[in-house]
Amino acid sequence: MKDFKRYMVTSALPYANGPVHIGHLAGVYIPSDIYVRYLRLKGEDVKWVCGSDEHGVPITLKAKKEGVSPQEIVDRYHNIIKQSFIDFGISVDIYSGTSKKIHHETASEFFKTLYDKGEFIEKTTEQYFDKQENQFLADRYIKGTCPKCGNEDAYGDQCEKCGSTLSPTELINPKSTISGGELALKETKHWYLPLDKHEPFLRKWILEEHKEWKPNVYGQCKSWLDSGLHPRAVTRDLNWGVPVPIEEAKGKVLYVWFDAPIGYISATKEITNDWEKYWKDPETKLVHFIGKDNIVFHCIIFPSMLKAEGSYILPENVPANAFLNLENDKISTSRNWAVWLHEYLENFKDKQDVLRYVLTAIAPETRDSDFTWKDFQERNNSELVNIFGNFVNRTLVLTKKYYDKLVPTPNIYTSEDLAVLSEIKTLKANIEQNIENYKFREALKNVMQLARTGNKYLADTEPWHLIKTDAERVKTIMYVAMQLTANLAILAEPFMPFSAKKLLKLLNIEKISWEDAGTEIIKAGHIINNPELLFPKIEDKEIEYQINKLLKTKEENAKENVELTAIKETITFDDFQKLDIRVATILEAEKVKKTKKLLKITLDTGIDKRVVVSGIAEFYKPEDIIGKQVQVLVNLAPRKLKGIESQGMILMAENSEGKLSFVSPEKGFENGGCIN
Ligand code: MF3
Ligand code: ZN
Repeated sequence: MKDFKRYMVTSALPYANGPVHIGHLAGVYIPSDIYVRYLRLKGEDVKWVCGSDEHGVPITLKAKKEGVSPQEIVDRYHNIIKQSFIDFGISVDIYSGTSKKIHHETASEFFKTLYDKGEFIEKTTEQYFDKQENQFLADRYIKGTCPKCGNEDAYGDQCEKCGSTLSPTELINPKSTISGGELALKETKHWYLPLDKHEPFLRKWILEEHKEWKPNVYGQCKSWLDSGLHPRAVTRDLNWGVPVPIEEAKGKVLYVWFDAPIGYISATKEITNDWEKYWKDPETKLVHFIGKDNIVFHCIIFPSMLKAEGSYILPENVPANAFLNLENDKISTSRNWAVWLHEYLENFKDKQDVLRYVLTAIAPETRDSDFTWKDFQERNNSELVNIFGNFVNRTLVLTKKYYDKLVPTPNIYTSEDLAVLSEIKTLKANIEQNIENYKFREALKNVMQLARTGNKYLADTEPWHLIKTDAERVKTIMYVAMQLTANLAILAEPFMPFSAKKLLKLLNIEKISWEDAGTEIIKAGHIINNPELLFPKIEDKEIEYQINKLLKTKEENAKENVELTAIKETITFDDFQKLDIRVATILEAEKVKKTKKLLKITLDTGIDKRVVVSGIAEFYKPEDIIGKQVQVLVNLAPRKLKGIESQGMILMAENSEGKLSFVSPEKGFENGGCIN
């Protein structure tokens, strides 16, 4: 592997159109924080930048909706996100934003360089124009009927109902979402980055030289490259963004995905005059932390831009993560299906590390993963409290009790002691290897292994018994346990910085470095502070509160989503008269074997006794419906279901979620009564 002199680390710039949630943390910001904290502890030269992505259509849409300026939206969320990062110990060197002057200058200059070098092609195409608003519309601004499924609310780039990717010209009856008015096609000129031209280089660089990239990243790049790259427009007809810096393009701005990654460079400029060293010297290792939806932009488009510019280095790795789900459902800002970081802290004050721990343990490193509150509680109580916290606490408490907080002088080590001390070295090496390969879940397991080793060591040696018979031996045991504890404080720091800091304070240690880990850190005679618990238990009621909150969200969403089915075709009175619907009473009911949904129901229809097979088993238990009065269509042609002849149909009401309910007459109605 190549040796690097310094590191340039970037994390995807979150859009400044909403707060951040656990998915953001798990996918991007915790992994990058672990990585950078580790590098810093090792004394590496590293810069880590982030900031908000403040351009793009969603932000202008939100501003319009609220009747405020885009800058107001951007400032609001920039501050919320920045605060969440501070609160959770996401230790970026700078949290900047792309509406800053320095960024506008940097992005402008970058575009100009490519323009002057002839790296763009110009194309004039027809695009939709909103006559009322007097502006071209980005795809998202256009709504119309989906040509594939008939959904009347499809967007110009995608139909959210059937999932098809669309182009605005495919929409039937396209309308402006801003004015609601008609659209006209009008010619407009744009500048395109000819990705096809860079394809041979990209193929070689990624497919041959970066086979070590994560399979999901490599695979996505390969499939993009294999399906052929096309020129991509990097300018837009919008008024929110970085103005295109050429006379001919007045009124146009850079495409948000052109300017945003340049934001990494602008942010670096803000923190060091030496920024070029971090972006242009081949001895710098550039690493982009992102989510999987950003892969093409960071592996194909941005590198093509950097390559075309000519003086920049390219990323050495792009460790993209998959997505985190919440309680088995996709996290969604618009459906409010998320755990928002600022809300978490309202309920779990000072428990940042618990969330950091859980999100690392379940990080979607190779595939989508799922956060559940039960699992969160379980991991806190049985891992952080019972393993990590318990070991540390026993060591501190016993040292206080036996030696009045003074670390004892050890005697000769037994093989048991030596095994523990050497395990620290082995685990340290494993942690390093895993972090350097972006396997943070594994690295965290290694840290926990160290705490497990400590617990086992104390359980095996039983100093609390030995203290009465062999006090000299106990000194060695407590000395070794103390070394383990101090090592934990260092090795856990990248993952749980708040707890590591607290632990260091309890140990009365001020400075740590990664180099110290694996050695005997605390000298005999050192005095520690009074013990305190690192991790309190999380109670059932705290978890129930969170689960109820999510249930409420589900209910609210369901209410909003009630989509009534359209009225059917008109029929005549005679058509209706053909239906013979009667009141009947359920006499018997049983489940139809080997089916999930079917019940075999015997009815008294007033005129006869008959059997009906009904698909209601998910909603009604057989024993609960005996004696119930229902409405039955009695002149429906009989048909066989699972070998049983069904003679009619019980009428059911169905809601938008597919839930079924009987349509019963008021109590004590006579069987056989007709429904007219
Ligand atoms: N705002 C984008 C997103 O949230 C990420 C931008 S990353 C950058 O998906 F490279 F463009 F900055
Ligand atoms: Zn559709």
